[in-house]
Amino acid sequence: MPVRDRDGRVVRWFGTATDITEQRNTEEALRHSRDHEAERAAELQAIMDAIPVAVLIARDLECRHTIGNRKAYDLFRLPPGSNLSKSAPEGEAPSTYRVMRFRKEVPPHELPVQKAAATGQPVREYEFELGFEDGTRRDMIGFAVPLLDAQGYPRGAVGVFADITDRKRSEERLRQMQKLESIGILAGGVAHDFNNLLTVIMGGVSSVLAEHPECGQLNDVLAASERAAYLTRQLLAYAGKGQFVLSTFDLNDLVPRYAQLVSASIPKRVKLVFNLAPEELLIQADPSQVEQILMNLVTNAGEALRPQTNGRIEINTSACDVTPAAARRHSQTFDIQPGRFVCLEVTDNGVGMDEATISQIFDPFFSTKFTGLGLGLAAVHGIVHSAKGFIEVLSSPGEGSAFRVHMPAAAEHGRAGRPARTAAGAARQGGAYGAILVVDDEERVRKLASLILRRRGFEVLEARNGQEALEVLAAAVPPPSLALVDLAMPVMGGDELVPILNQGYPDLKIIVTSGYPEEDARRGFPAESVAGFLQKPYTVMSLSDKVDEILGTRVA
Ligand SMILES: Nc1ncnc2c1ncn2[C@@H]1O[C@H](COP(=O)(O)OP(=O)(O)OP(=O)(O)O)[C@@H](O)[C@H]1O
Ligand SMILES: [Mg+2]
Repeated sequence: MPVRDRDGRVVRWFGTATDITEQRNTEEALRHSRDHEAERAAELQAIMDAIPVAVLIARDLECRHTIGNRKAYDLFRLPPGSNLSKSAPEGEAPSTYRVMRFRKEVPPHELPVQKAAATGQPVREYEFELGFEDGTRRDMIGFAVPLLDAQGYPRGAVGVFADITDRKRSEERLRQMQKLESIGILAGGVAHDFNNLLTVIMGGVSSVLAEHPECGQLNDVLAASERAAYLTRQLLAYAGKGQFVLSTFDLNDLVPRYAQLVSASIPKRVKLVFNLAPEELLIQADPSQVEQILMNLVTNAGEALRPQTNGRIEINTSACDVTPAAARRHSQTFDIQPGRFVCLEVTDNGVGMDEATISQIFDPFFSTKFTGLGLGLAAVHGIVHSAKGFIEVLSSPGEGSAFRVHMPAAAEHGRAGRPARTAAGAARQGGAYGAILVVDDEERVRKLASLILRRRGFEVLEARNGQEALEVLAAAVPPPSLALVDLAMPVMGGDELVPILNQGYPDLKIIVTSGYPEEDARRGFPAESVAGFLQKPYTVMSLSDKVDEILGTRVA
């Protein structure tokens, strides 16, 4: 600033100089720190977005405004940047998701972030369920810690949430599998002993009945024992421990042959339709187990039909190829190899099932029926599992159901059409196989003989007299190796039947059963025409021994 004299000339200059180094430095530092802060913020954002779990931050004590990382917005299905807080002011809280615990909605003040902010204490391992409007649910686990101000007072909170749905489901699946496995072991063990006890009971009762026909009530004991034997068979099948005899056969042969039996188990007005594949569907399995599958599926289908509607059950057979991807998809519960499979499908237009029911139907003892035991599908599962096959279930409420049983296709008929015995069947039993024809007019005797022989692994054909026996034989493929023939029967007795059998079926071995002493019975037949005689009433032991003796199937 100039200083002038009277004439206006500048005589002096005044001035001040300020050292602004410090100011410059401060400005610099501020800019630096702003840059730094921006970098830090960007860094934090990058970290947040890189974290594969949801992170939520609330910077106010009541957590009325909460933001999150990218994962959080994905998870809660909200647009990035929007307020995630359930404690947001009226009308602003997000409605896309609900937080559930023990099937109830959790109030906002109990949520982990809110709780950590309010109490100043961390919240750990808070498990809950996220429910969305479309009905989907996710299992979650959450952690939250309070954010503290300089004085150490809470001013908000940070929460971390992870989706544990897959982990939960696989844990549940594992637990379920372990449970089913232990039930299987238990059931298998008990059922086996039970089977032996039943054999003794039924053998004993039938012997007494034969000698004292006046004890008619014993028929009830037999009937109840038969039901128990049936249940035991289901349990053993579930446990994969049945006495089974493998043979290679065409599924298309078995299905229609079994049709009559199947139709007896469903109401008359129900329409039963068969669609059999035109080609041969060879499988290696135990025919009686495949019958058991068919029976259980058809029985269920019949029970699912509503009385007033036009009930319809379809039994379809087909062949299909299972790709490696499909094999993997089903390998969670079944051990299967890709390749050619044979499919047996039973569909109905009945009540159908919801998801929750479908997830439990194969569990033993799961039933939605008043008198159901819940063993039918468990047995089917056991059989299919042992056969290295798998089952598909398609159903929804009111839409009917389809059960598709897939079993590996067999390449060709077994050795000379001879059934191969499985280790389990051979180890447990005397090693008998093939089919046996039981000809007896007395139903009780016929049923008991069938039961004993089926248990021993034979396929059993039944006839009520000589005439029927010839009809059954004409239709039997492969023909039975042995016939058990009663002597005295209406229409055509054993004395008339045996010579015809000798003539028409020279390979068929014959055991004549009769209440007469053996010498008397023998007298009616030439020595070679009959392989053996069995005195009635026979017991489980005497019948088994005789059959083993004639077929040479006893194992030392
Ligand atoms: N075709 C079907 N339609 C609708 N629901 C079915 C069908 N098949 C099975 N279910 C459901 O699966 C459950 C289990 O079936 P499963 O055959 O194992 O037992 P159950 O029929 O109840 O009793 P059990 O067969 O031992 O007499 C049934 O109670 C039923 O709820
Ligand atoms: Mg059932």
